Amino acid sequence: MPSYPSYRPRRLRRTEALRRLVRETWLQPSQLVLPLFVRSGTGVRQPIESMPGVAQTSVDELLRDARDAAALGIGGVLLFGIPDTKDAIGSDAWNDDAPVQQAVRALKREVPDLVVITDVCLCEYTDHGHCGVIRDGDVDNDATLELLAREAVSHARAGADVVAPSDMMDGRVRAIRAALDANGFGGTVILSYAAKFAGPFYGPFRDAAESAPQFGDRRSYQMDAGNSDEALREVRLDIDEGADMVMVKPAGPFLDVIHRVKAETGYPVAAYQVSGEFAMIQAAAERGCIDRDRVMIESLTGIRRAGADVIITYFARDAARILK
Ligand code: PBG
Repeated sequence: MPSYPSYRPRRLRRTEALRRLVRETWLQPSQLVLPLFVRSGTGVRQPIESMPGVAQTSVDELLRDARDAAALGIGGVLLFGIPDTKDAIGSDAWNDDAPVQQAVRALKREVPDLVVITDVCLCEYTDHGHCGVIRDGDVDNDATLELLAREAVSHARAGADVVAPSDMMDGRVRAIRAALDANGFGGTVILSYAAKFAGPFYGPFRDAAESAPQFGDRRSYQMDAGNSDEALREVRLDIDEGADMVMVKPAGPFLDVIHRVKAETGYPVAAYQVSGEFAMIQAAAERGCIDRDRVMIESLTGIRRAGADVIITYFARDAARILK
């Protein structure tokens, strides 16, 4: 490589036209996925206090948000359900008439261009808020697999393009793939939350999804924040079990993991910029500490540059408006 003064890196930064020409990483609305929270009723739009601009909505209102997202060129939506009733095993998760299933059917009918992804987990549906059934004070892995499979099949039956298990049980991707195939849904995509780290960044989400654990925490199933070799093992397991795409979550504090997963697997990688990452940017902007739009775009660009093909973000619409 030539050195200064024959090589002057500043030459390529002299004008915006030059900077654009040699920019390595582009952010496009089609790479963004917007999370949506659906509950029963009509005309319902219940704002979530800790997440400015995010709301729980009924299906009719959700369709308005989804049409807006599609018009902005956003790639897809990720649905979370708030059920009317919760119980110990989360039965509403595989109720074909629950809010998520209704929303999927409505979306496939009314907004066919959007990829519809459903979050497959039990924590929104169990009265104890854990991601599986409880035995002896902890989540029983193998007893949970069949329930997750039922939930995924119900989502696929409603028409979901992609099911995204976020529970972090061992073996769930294989169980879900087998159940989908056995029920005639061989074309349904699995996006596994493969490297999902336990931690404080999900705080605001638990208000949004009403899914906070009623005792303990999720450290016996979600990953320890210090581990990236283990993240690669989780990712390889899920790919081996049939995952079509893999996710790293949260995104910002785990950019190195995103990078390794992309570099070492070559699989389509999604990264989830989670509720706490979103809330921090919103709160700092509200206090006048940062320029919200620029920090938002830079945070998303960093996640893409690390290696994410797809970004799940509550900023999807705001970012798409700026990118247009
Ligand atoms: C369900 C689930 C969670 C998130 C996505 N799916 C919460 C959790 O694991 O506690 C978090 C999303 C966010 O914080 O934005 N298991």
